Amino acid sequence: MRVTPISPSAISRRAFGKGVLAASSAGLLAGCGAAGAMGGYEQLAAALRVPLSGEATMPELIRYATLAANAHNAQPWLFVPGEGGTLAIMPDPSRRTPIVDPDDHHLYVSLGCALENLLIAAEATGQAALPHPLAAANPGVGVAFGSTGKPPGPLFWAITRRQCTRSTYSGTPVAKADLDKLLSAAAMDDIDIRLITDAGRMARVAEYVVEGNERQLDNPAFIAELKDWIRFDTKSALRTRDGLFNAVSGQPAIPAWLAKGLFPLVFRKDSENSRYREQIASSAGIAVFTAAGEDPDHWIRVGRSYQRFALMATAMNIRHAHVNQPVEVEDLRPDFAQWLGVGDARPSLVIRFGYAPALPMSLRRSVAAVTRPTRTSPSQASPA
Ligand SMILES: Cc1cc2nc3c(=O)[nH]c(=O)nc-3n(C[C@H](O)[C@H](O)[C@H](O)COP(=O)(O)O)c2cc1C
Repeated sequence: MRVTPISPSAISRRAFGKGVLAASSAGLLAGCGAAGAMGGYEQLAAALRVPLSGEATMPELIRYATLAANAHNAQPWLFVPGEGGTLAIMPDPSRRTPIVDPDDHHLYVSLGCALENLLIAAEATGQAALPHPLAAANPGVGVAFGSTGKPPGPLFWAITRRQCTRSTYSGTPVAKADLDKLLSAAAMDDIDIRLITDAGRMARVAEYVVEGNERQLDNPAFIAELKDWIRFDTKSALRTRDGLFNAVSGQPAIPAWLAKGLFPLVFRKDSENSRYREQIASSAGIAVFTAAGEDPDHWIRVGRSYQRFALMATAMNIRHAHVNQPVEVEDLRPDFAQWLGVGDARPSLVIRFGYAPALPMSLRRSVAAVTRPTRTSPSQASPA
């Protein structure tokens, strides 16, 4: 990413401090508010997505950044405000998922997703935000703010409505003009996006997904890590405000003690495989994102491009979900890359898309929980 000098915005530390309090207490109140069908879950999910208005404070921009897609909903980010109203987005090493993501590829893609939300939200609220890489010893991304007169666009309005929808879709195709809009919204230097809409080729991707799924489910460490991030009941989802809540994936919420015991019985290769085949066959297409390089900077770019794709899809009422097994299983990835036609490059994300009703939205931790106030400049910022 280019480093562009820019004059700092008027976002003051004072505004920052106040905002953190306001944002976190709003979240707390929502969490303790009137219980709905899911014990206050819907209220908290909605409070996290209250639309921004006027010139946003730094905490409000951070709240929008955290609404981004992120692997396992681990929310592996720390936001570190710096001198002159700048901000660094850093990895949170305590939220790594080392089994499914041993080289932190997904972690950096997730940071890219958060960065893109932040850039779109800043621009929509009158601030031009420019990203630049941080020191190699401390990889992350820095953001400097300036001013812009651009009005909010469709990607901004989609931030609070975007979700990963893990259901069976309607089978309705997406019109060519809309596919073009998705590609043009997601276009980014060094990122290749292959769209697959032919039923035969989609079925071939489904077989790669099934093969990857089988290899992952044969690995007890993979199952243990996944189980750690599943929130089986509303109580656990509300307590941690992270992870993969059953209801968000269209599954019933059941008491965690019961679900953990039943897990091996219901989470079986054959049923999972048929579900993936059916879900892919019901989709309008598959998008595969591949970066030109294999390093955090390129993975952040993948996240930015994919987040823009997801937001444009949301703006057009198109749903999407990840079927990343062919790129997560290291032994399968080169074969998938050859079949895809990207040669020796590493495909990063496999995304199916199509039409379906929305499922419940996922939760996020409070702005205060993901913010580390600091007096150092972003290039020196440390997540510790
Ligand atoms: C890098 C990355 C990898 C992901 N991998 C998967 C995946 O393999 N399977 C899946 O169902 N969702 C996957 N997701 C989606 C996340 O689980 C989802 O973004 C997170 O749970 C938050 O939910 P939301 O996007 O609906 O807000 C991935 C997201 C990212 C950014």
